[in-house]
Order: sequence, then structure tokens, then C-alpha cells
Amino acid sequence: MRISMLDTLLHRATLGEKIAMLTCYDASFAKVMALAGVDILLVGDSLGMVMQGAANTLHVTMTDMVYHTRMVAAGAPNTVVMADMPIGSYEHDHVEALANAQALRQAGAHIVKLEGGGAIVHTAQYLVAHGIPVCAHLGFTPQSVVQLGGYKIQGNTDAGAKQLMVDALAMVDAGVSMVLFEMVPSHVAQHITQALPVPTIGIGAGPACGGQVLVLQDVLGIYSGPAAQAPETYKAPRFVHNFLAGASSIQQALTAYVQAVKQGQYPTPSHGY
Ligand code: KIV
Repeated sequence: MRISMLDTLLHRATLGEKIAMLTCYDASFAKVMALAGVDILLVGDSLGMVMQGAANTLHVTMTDMVYHTRMVAAGAPNTVVMADMPIGSYEHDHVEALANAQALRQAGAHIVKLEGGGAIVHTAQYLVAHGIPVCAHLGFTPQSVVQLGGYKIQGNTDAGAKQLMVDALAMVDAGVSMVLFEMVPSHVAQHITQALPVPTIGIGAGPACGGQVLVLQDVLGIYSGPAAQAPETYKAPRFVHNFLAGASSIQQALTAYVQAVKQGQYPTPSHGY
């Protein structure tokens, strides 16, 4: 049986190695990230903000995602690539979700990421049953920014924390390979991480997750999306850290990010909620 790059990475995570993940949207940054030792290149639908200049991820299409996934995979053929399924590509119909996930896989993704629990659990299960590795994205889910009333921490009430646990366990039962938590209190992410047999990845979810992800532009201090629209009033979220400050090159900054994640130096408790 052929062991995939993703299986090898998941195995290293079960042995306690932290996963260092960054968003990536093109071949040249994919090369730099591969050289820096980034474990997973996430072709995030945050490309709506950082590549397209939009205010959110709500207009990103499958065509956009396939295009960027192909470029990232071409730049880093020996690194795991995760691709976001954009809004509208997976929520309505399982068969359509599978066709879209397969298109992302053909473009070079090893694993796809879906936002939400609840009804999305069955979609995840369907994709996994058809051979598509899936990462569940829980907590703050950017595709629901309107319904959630803005960029707000999730799981910060007893009921909210319990629901996160229910969703995470249901996603694991559905067969997902990883669970990503965005903007969740650190103690909640820690509690759920300890209960799950698969690695968790955090962004604004504290130091206890099995890995970390940041948006590339945040790591390099480049402001986009809401930040670019109102730079004078913008305050970066507390989990953001500019690794370029103090580094002499982008390569060095990304290597510093990977080392900080691997050695448990980033994030610190002060980066969490
Ligand atoms: O699209 C993206 O960049 C993401 C991260 C915020 C995890 O999903």
C-alpha cells in the first residue's frame, strides 16, 4: 500500500509533532514555504481578501480555487496542499460537493476543507466515503461572517463550547482527518483537542492545538481586506504575529514561523482568547 504525504504527516502529528500550516496562493510562495518546512499549504478562500481585494470570502468561486490550487501544487510538489471548498460549492448537494472536491484534488489538493458542523457532517462523510480526505473548519467560520454578526469568538458560552465538542466529535465520526478551530477560547480548544483522535489546527485557538495556521499576509505584516479599507482604525486580531519584523528576508521569516510552531513558542497564551 502506498503511504501518502498526508498520512505521513498525520502519523508525525500523532507522535506529538506540531503541524505548521500557512495559507498560500501561488507557486513562488509555495516554493519559499516548502523550503521553510511548512507542513501544509492552505489554499484558503481568504484569497478573496488578500488576492482579490474583497471584504470577505463570500464571492470566491470554484474557478478561483482550482486556479490557485493548481499554482500552489505546481510550486511545491512535495508538500501537502489543502484547498478550501468555497461557499456554495458543497452545502446544497452531496453529488455536487463530491464533483467539486474531485476538481480540487485534480488541481493538486491532497485534502479539502469544509466550514461548519451540523448538516455539513453528512457532506464530510460522503466525501470521505468517496476517498476525499477532509478537514473540518469549526468555531468562527468566515463563510458565515454575516450570520455570525462579524468576526466574533465562538464557543465562549457553555452551550457554545458543548456544541463545538458535539460538532468536532461528529466530524471525526464522519471520518475527517483534521479539525481546524478559528477564534475559539484556548481552554475550549484544549479540551476538545484532548478528546479527539485526529490533530487539531488552531488560528486564534491557543497553544494546545496540534498545529497552527496563519494567513501568509498576516505573517508578513501586509494588511488587506478590512485592514486595507480602514488602515488607521484597524487593529490586528490578537493571534496575528508579524514574523517579518526582525527577520532579514521572507524566507527567514517563514522559517522562523515554522520553528516557533514546532517548538511550541508560537502561539503563546497571550495570542489566545
Ligand atoms: O481561508 C483561510 O485563510 C482560512 C484560514 C483562516 C484558516 O480558512
